[in-house]
Parts: sequence; structure tokens; C-alpha cells
Amino acid sequence: MGVEVAVQDLTKSFGSQRIWQDVTLTLPTGEVSALLGPSGTGKSVFLKSLIGLLRPEQGS
Ligand SMILES: Nc1ncnc2c1ncn2[C@@H]1O[C@H](COP(=O)(O)OP(=O)(O)OP(=O)(O)O)[C@@H](O)[C@H]1O
Ligand SMILES: [Mg+2]
Repeated sequence: MGVEVAVQDLTKSFGSQRIWQDVTLTLPTGEVSALLGPSGTGKSVFLKSLIGLLRPEQGS
């Protein structure tokens, strides 16, 4: 059984490089989701923020 993932106003930068800004989304319980995008657009940074390996400067 999956768990709901709720992201609110996530913003993450490295220095002056903004990776994500004001991302808000909910992944419902039990759904399988895929995160797609070109290399270097921030997929891994997003997932690392979700599991606490990186700390976003804004959001939860
Ligand atoms: N620890 C870090 N310090 C500084 N910049 C970083 C760090 N981690 C990632 N970046 C930068 O953040 C941006 C997004 O990187 P990320 O690794 O999330 O891309 P990605 O979408 O997962 O790419 P790929 O498809 O190649 O795995 C890139 O410009 C990368 O250089
Ligand atoms: Mg990656």
C-alpha cells in the first residue's frame, strides 16, 4: 500500500541557480507516478528533497 505524497511550495536553489520554484502537487495513495524531464532539469534534486537528503529553502 502506497502513501500520499504532498508537496507544498517547494523551492530549491544551489547558489544563484534556481532548480525548482513554488512546486505544489499531491501524489495520491496507491498511485504509481513517473517524473520525466531532460537531463539536468532537477528530477534527482526533487526526489532527494522528498526523502530529506536535500533541504529546500522554501516549502514542505
Ligand atoms: N549538490 C549539488 N550542488 C550543486 N548543484 C547541484 C547539486 N545537485 C544537483 N545540482 C544541479 O542541479 C541541476 C539539476 O540536477 P539533477 O541531478 O536533479 O538533474 P536530473 O534531472 O536528475 O538529471 P539526469 O536526468 O541527468 O539524472 C543540475 O544543474 C545540477 O548540476
Ligand atoms: Mg537524476
